[in-house]
Amino acid sequence: MGEMAIDLRRRLAAPRAVPGPGRQEVVPPLVTPRLRLRPIRPADGDAVVELHGDPEVMRHLGTGRPVPPARVRHRDLPRLLADHGPLPLGYWAAEDRATDAFVGWFELRPMVTETIAAVELGYRLRRSAWGRGLATEGARVLVDAAFTGTDVDEVVATTLAVNAGSRRVMEKVGLTWRQTYMDDRTAPITGAEFGEVEYALARAEWRPRRPEAFHRRQPRRWPARRA
Ligand SMILES: CC(C)(COP(=O)(O)OP(=O)(O)OC[C@H]1O[C@@H](n2cnc3c(N)ncnc32)[C@H](O)[C@@H]1OP(=O)(O)O)[C@@H](O)C(=O)NCCC(=O)NCCS
Repeated sequence: MGEMAIDLRRRLAAPRAVPGPGRQEVVPPLVTPRLRLRPIRPADGDAVVELHGDPEVMRHLGTGRPVPPARVRHRDLPRLLADHGPLPLGYWAAEDRATDAFVGWFELRPMVTETIAAVELGYRLRRSAWGRGLATEGARVLVDAAFTGTDVDEVVATTLAVNAGSRRVMEKVGLTWRQTYMDDRTAPITGAEFGEVEYALARAEWRPRRPEAFHRRQPRRWPARRA
């Protein structure tokens, strides 16, 4: 099958209504050693305006340029706040547990496919948070949440081929390259001529991580994995 056909088959599902008041308040956060992920909320508006307004953050996204504040408020924020399905689907604000500061967002969005149920993983962090392994940490907890909290068959992620940092995060959380394809929508971005890459992790290949304590109690020799 041609690359274009695969691309068209995997569209993101349209968001449903904006969640009712209070939904965000009752959700337990997803906690990692350094991050707290909680559903994004309207009060994150200023932080999102700043994030999407940073030219370095936006270099490989959208049109490759910073998004003006009014556009973030009227286009991006409503998308982030919309209902993308039952939790853990949706957009999660990431807070630094040491400072409570907003460091960016992570997303798990359902995809429309003909044959299987899939979710798309995404992330966007403030420049000040880069280079500390935080994207990997947040992405990992969402991959686990996708497979434990939904019945999806796979987690998918896409980025520009030249976005080395994002590709590396995908690899580190267990996704593998599946295809490179062209997408006209990213044409204005420098480097878009090298195409987009799609990475994926199937449920059958996902290895849930065991808690540290469990590791310590177990003998070193693990039974051989089935082929
Ligand atoms: C891409 C991004 C999420 C990476 O966040 P991060 O927290 O710095 O990533 P991590 O620290 O978890 O790094 C994961 C790996 O990627 C590597 N990496 C990170 N940024 C990189 C870059 N710009 N170039 C090459 N490698 C990079 C790290 O070295 C690390 O690999 P290693 O452990 O083998 O050394 C962050 O730079 C960002 O938000 N960028 C702007 C938005 C964006 O492009 N989002 C992705 C859209 S699909």
